[in-house]
Amino acid sequence: MSKVDVLLGLQWGDEGKGKIVDVLTPNYDIIARFQGGPNAGHTIEFDGIKHILHIIPSGIFHKDKDNLIGNGVLIEPVIFKQEIESLADKGVDATINLVISKKAHLILPSHRLMDAANEAYKGNQKIGSTLKGIGPAYTDKVARTSMRVGDILTNEYTDIYNKLKESHIRYIKSLGFDVDSFKIDNITYEQYEQRWFESLETLKKFNIIDSEYYINEALSSGKKVLAEGAQGSMLDIDFGSYPFVTSSSTITAGVCIGLGVAPSKIGNVYGICKAYCTRVGSGPFPTELFDKDGETLRENGREYGSTTGRPRRCGWIDLPALKYSCMLNGVTHLVIMKIDVLNDFDTIKMCDKYEIKGKETEKFPYDVVSAEITPVYSSYQGWKQDIANAKDYDQLPEQMKQYLAALEKKVGINVAVISTSPNRKDTIYKEII
Ligand code: GDP
Ligand code: IMO
Ligand code: MG
Repeated sequence: MSKVDVLLGLQWGDEGKGKIVDVLTPNYDIIARFQGGPNAGHTIEFDGIKHILHIIPSGIFHKDKDNLIGNGVLIEPVIFKQEIESLADKGVDATINLVISKKAHLILPSHRLMDAANEAYKGNQKIGSTLKGIGPAYTDKVARTSMRVGDILTNEYTDIYNKLKESHIRYIKSLGFDVDSFKIDNITYEQYEQRWFESLETLKKFNIIDSEYYINEALSSGKKVLAEGAQGSMLDIDFGSYPFVTSSSTITAGVCIGLGVAPSKIGNVYGICKAYCTRVGSGPFPTELFDKDGETLRENGREYGSTTGRPRRCGWIDLPALKYSCMLNGVTHLVIMKIDVLNDFDTIKMCDKYEIKGKETEKFPYDVVSAEITPVYSSYQGWKQDIANAKDYDQLPEQMKQYLAALEKKVGINVAVISTSPNRKDTIYKEII
């Protein structure tokens, strides 16, 4: 009996999950997404190819490996079809090695309208949603009114669709908008709806399965499974910086729900974080920098959203938040990304604790949204050199090793992998995994 290993983001998303899942895929038989949907943007780079995945798992470029979109994921058919076509342009036929859970829920065009309407209604209080319909679609799932992928294989699906759509339009009107108030990806609602129905045909070409049996039978037969997280723990619906969060369980516990595996079947948990910190969208970010250092992180790290192109907010690594994430997820190994982005700094900072109302704390506070938090930093000497040629841990600069050793000590978990560029090949193993 094998266990499911997990790779997930420990910060506010965009940690580099796509790259590392792709790098680790050769060690596994199945790569499974367990939550989120097209709000995710997971970048993979190798052999001159740069590809951004949204709904499809990041193991898809390995032809001999299987990929699963689990029941916890939301599928938006138009975006799914675009992804399939964009993979086909790169010579990847996903129909061969991608299967989809019958119990995954669908994002309707009217969910995307609701997302836009909710954000417009909130004005400057908006979440900064990716406008992919995530919040409204998960809301319908929990309200027991939603539509699942399995429904499109039945004759009743247009009834379910129409009933849902009507309720959405009533809701949008109640906020003072109508269907013509918003465009979806630059086209009208009617045009998008037509595209949505056409895209269902692409979805139907895939093997739509009882994925909880598929995954548990795979584990029983000794197959190795890697669960791929989307977003990050600080965007988790329960433990993130609520209400500035996404609408799913992004933490390890979400794997059990989003794939149908028991907690006792969770194996290693690879927690991935940048050597600094970023956030896209609204909400608290205690270590955010508004100075030249923040600008340098954004420019050197090319910190612009993979899904929306928005500039990401940047700051130093935040240990109260990171330790909180590691606790919630049961992280067994740390994966440190984008360390090359720190190459130019004379001094690198790490936030060890927060000062709130004159008191110091190492804990992530309940009232993170309203509290005035002053980060308390420790400083480390920068390495001030290019690290592009480093192929193993011994070749990394001494100052970097000191920074990583301090991080390991303070978090209490070993660093297993260090990433030094977007490319698949620039991945250094400090420990064998
Ligand atoms: P994900 O959502 O967690 O998969 O991360 P994204 O793909 O949204 O954002 C990570 C960005 O950093 C992508 O543009 C990656 O190509 C890039 N990236 C990943 N690892 C590294 C690294 O070690 N160094 C640098 N400079 N860029 C990296
Ligand atoms: P990956 O998987 C970074 C953020 C949005 C917004 C909030 C809610 O690429 O790391 P939503 O559309 O989910 O209702 O938006 O969450 N967000 C992400 N930020 N990376 C992501 O995914 C994100 N998915 C959602 O910016 O602040
Ligand atoms: Mg991303």
